[in-house]
Amino acid sequence: MAYRTMKTPRLTARPEWKALQRHAATMRRRHLRELFAADTGRGERFALEAAGLYFDYAKQRVDAQALKLLLRLAQACGVRERAEAMFRGERINTTEDRAVLHVALRASRRERIVVDGRNVVADVHGVLARMAAFCERVRSGEWKGHRGGRIRHVVNIGIGGSDLGPVMAYEALRAYADRELDLRFVSNVDGTDFAEATRDLDPAQTLFVVCSKTFTTQETLANAHAARRWCLDALGDEAAVAKHFVAVSTNAAEVAKFGIDTANMFGFWDWVGGRYSMDSAIGLSTMLAIGPAHFGELLAGFRAMDEHFRKAPFERNLPVLHALLGIWNTNFLGVESVAVLPYEQYLKRFPAYLQQLAMESNGKHVTRAGARVGVDTCPIVWGEPGTNGQHSFYQLIHQGTRAVACDFIGFCETANPLGDQHDLLMANLFAQGEALAFGKTAAELRAEGVPAALVPHKTFDGNRSSSTILARRLDPRTLGALVALYEHSVFVQGVIWDIDSFDQWGVELGKVLARRIAAELAAPKTPRLAHDGSTNALIRRYRRLRGS
Ligand code: F6P
Repeated sequence: MAYRTMKTPRLTARPEWKALQRHAATMRRRHLRELFAADTGRGERFALEAAGLYFDYAKQRVDAQALKLLLRLAQACGVRERAEAMFRGERINTTEDRAVLHVALRASRRERIVVDGRNVVADVHGVLARMAAFCERVRSGEWKGHRGGRIRHVVNIGIGGSDLGPVMAYEALRAYADRELDLRFVSNVDGTDFAEATRDLDPAQTLFVVCSKTFTTQETLANAHAARRWCLDALGDEAAVAKHFVAVSTNAAEVAKFGIDTANMFGFWDWVGGRYSMDSAIGLSTMLAIGPAHFGELLAGFRAMDEHFRKAPFERNLPVLHALLGIWNTNFLGVESVAVLPYEQYLKRFPAYLQQLAMESNGKHVTRAGARVGVDTCPIVWGEPGTNGQHSFYQLIHQGTRAVACDFIGFCETANPLGDQHDLLMANLFAQGEALAFGKTAAELRAEGVPAALVPHKTFDGNRSSSTILARRLDPRTLGALVALYEHSVFVQGVIWDIDSFDQWGVELGKVLARRIAAELAAPKTPRLAHDGSTNALIRRYRRLRGS
């Protein structure tokens, strides 16, 4: 049966869903303290390792029965079949009628994945080779700026998937980066972003990498035009564009229209979603920073997790279990948000990256067939690196009235050993999971002599879910595996909710209205504003008070 015409039964009508609902009623009354007391081997058994990542989910509020039912749900919803359809290059992004093949971006040269009669793996490796050659030239100083000097600064211009992946990866892999090359990122249409990123740069030493899948995104084009003016004002010659601008896009026509020679363009394809593109040519800035060999390691990490996801049985499959625990928390335990808490300063942009990956993929209210999903879909994803969060929002995670599930991420080694600080960092990670799960009872507090009036304030209910991902060190390979874990977890959840995880219609309305309002702001004489009363009043006030 063609994938697109597959009819899927209503999720809540599935016997597996109903069984989970019944079981959840029991589990909601059970405390993690009980689950651990009843099973001394829980810490080891509720854990698995894949592609260099150790995943501990013992502190999730599940028992063997819940896991069994969740695995059955995954089977019944066709997770395996849908994953295979993705790996085969079927057009599983149905609303845009596109294949979804980020997995081809890291496929080994030997593989063949055919889309519309073309082996896309060969195309991928062709682009990787061009990227590597270009990066070597820039990194070695062979690529010269318009005035003959070497490139010292790279400014990535892009937004959404054309920014968040590159900036996250650059920050994550700084320890592997060439420190002689200074990377900056400009995404916001707010001119401050561009001005602050470039204020101390010498145009003669600056290379702009303009990243946009469509090359029509308002913010990116505005910033790219600003960059062009900034560059030409200083270098005074159109010919400078060829030395100081490269583009990454699927849209050669728009790149040429902007004035970048398509010889300086690195391509990708419509089957790469923006939020799944950091390992495509969109990763050019990453490759410039860490070099082609490390970029190859990054891809190897992605590939290791892809292979594990594709082959491992569901009960030992890290992305599948990660996704199912998310379904359990969201749909059966009423958890509304997931805090991603890396205890690794280099991962400071990882929560922001995951926000787009998860929420733009699965923040949907209708099924692939267009019916209301009928259950909650993507939880709100947020987070900050530890230990900083501990001194702000962890209060709510420990004692607030809303349930938050936490993903702790930590590493056994640090790139920056400083006395015993890495042990202190990791002690905090381990302590947080323990405190969330087990809490502190009123009886314990009374036994410690805490005054009665303070006992309620100092009580920690515990029974708050968390998982911990532990790896040896944050290197390119580990980062690739980590990102692929989340990509596939998001995929599995989308299959279960029966939504199209690869479109993003929800961002369109705002874009359309902004275009209309931008035209009105540019022509202040527009006779009649035809928005609602509030928007009209805001626009009028803005026009009156704006500086210029
Ligand atoms: O507006 C959302 C979005 O389409 C994202 O999905 C995408 O990553 C981003 O805009 C940037 O798009 P582009 O790479 O085409 O400029």
